[in-house]
Amino acid sequence: MTAPSAAPPHQRIPVHTPSGDYQIEIATGISNRLPALLESARAPARRFLISSPPIWKLHGERFQTLTSEPPILIPDGERHKRVATVGRIYDALVRAAADRATTIVAVGGGVVGDTAGFAAATFLRGVPLVQVPTTLLAQVDSAIGGKVGVNHPLGKNLIGAFHQPLAVAIDPDLLATLPRREFRAGLYEVVKYGMIASRGLFDRLTSDLAAVFKREPALLADVIGESCRIKAAVVSADERESGPRRALNFGHTMGHALESLTQYKRFRHGEAVAYGMLAACELAVARGALDPSARDALRELITRMGPLPAVADLSAAEAVEAAGRDKKIVGGTLHFVLPTAIGTTTTVTDVTSEELLRATEAIGLKG
Ligand SMILES: NC(=O)c1ccc[n+]([C@@H]2O[C@H](COP(=O)([O-])OP(=O)(O)OC[C@H]3O[C@@H](n4cnc5c(N)ncnc54)[C@H](O)[C@@H]3O)[C@@H](O)[C@H]2O)c1
Ligand SMILES: [Zn+2]
Repeated sequence: MTAPSAAPPHQRIPVHTPSGDYQIEIATGISNRLPALLESARAPARRFLISSPPIWKLHGERFQTLTSEPPILIPDGERHKRVATVGRIYDALVRAAADRATTIVAVGGGVVGDTAGFAAATFLRGVPLVQVPTTLLAQVDSAIGGKVGVNHPLGKNLIGAFHQPLAVAIDPDLLATLPRREFRAGLYEVVKYGMIASRGLFDRLTSDLAAVFKREPALLADVIGESCRIKAAVVSADERESGPRRALNFGHTMGHALESLTQYKRFRHGEAVAYGMLAACELAVARGALDPSARDALRELITRMGPLPAVADLSAAEAVEAAGRDKKIVGGTLHFVLPTAIGTTTTVTDVTSEELLRATEAIGLKG
């Protein structure tokens, strides 16, 4: 028997930060109902949509009723996440005589969200921002937490600000068009949330992986909601990344190293993080801090998720050196997030290059 059609469940996750509180709203089809959402978030009346041509082509129709202003379309792709693109947004806003009673609505993945968010943080010293993330990575990660910014030719995310959104609207329906590799890349960050804070989420991914890959909206909404609750809790406790927020960095020390070693060309960010999580587990097992069965469970889940780009040609020593240059080194000390079980981590500051080297070789880099 089929159930009578009911309104899809709507999750509201509060985020509290010193600079303001807001809600993450998750519901299938919510991108069609943004006018009501913006009203209830008291978003100022002049609304400017910022997106990119491919996303607008796929999904722009949903947003037509939100504003009569033409959308500001910026080029997509990591290399366009730069100051020049922010300049194009300023130009469009100034030409349209946008004033402080303006809301910027960012519709896109992390690149659009970070770039449009930085424009919102700085235009007229800051105007309200609503994030409508369209990739899985943006829905579980980049649209939440208030970090916005762009790259410098010499380094990623070197220019930025904290600018909390007025609201985040997450529609799992938007993910139907996402290329499979992008979807999978976002899913590794969901695995990360399981590893750092929720055995339940990890187990759910393990048992329902096939349904997750079918992108069944209700299941996706659950998994996204659980991820957002974890990020929201960490961000609420620690807006500016000192203590608890570090756990979000699990898998990222070696992940960033692999990305930089391959000039950001070989891996999607999440794929590099998948390797980074495996390396952190190897290191933890070698120290006796993690039961090998937990490492094996992670390895099996990641293997089932699909192929990762090869690493056998990369030098473990060079990867360790790149990890040493990571910006997460505070005052010369590498803060390394170590798993202690599925669902818990600890941060240590005494990881040696030798240990990191062995862990990096254990995940397949050449010695
Ligand atoms: N601000 C933060 O806290 C934070 C956190 C993590 C990552 N980031 C940043 O996020 C960026 C990566 O974001 P991303 O992974 O979303 O990549 P992305 O924004 O480049 O999007 C990936 C690709 O998917 C396409 N796309 C987007 N939505 C689509 C949809 N619904 N259907 C079909 N195609 C779609 C885009 O056009 C693009 O080609 C990086 O720049 C990273 O630094 C920021
Ligand atoms: Zn990440």
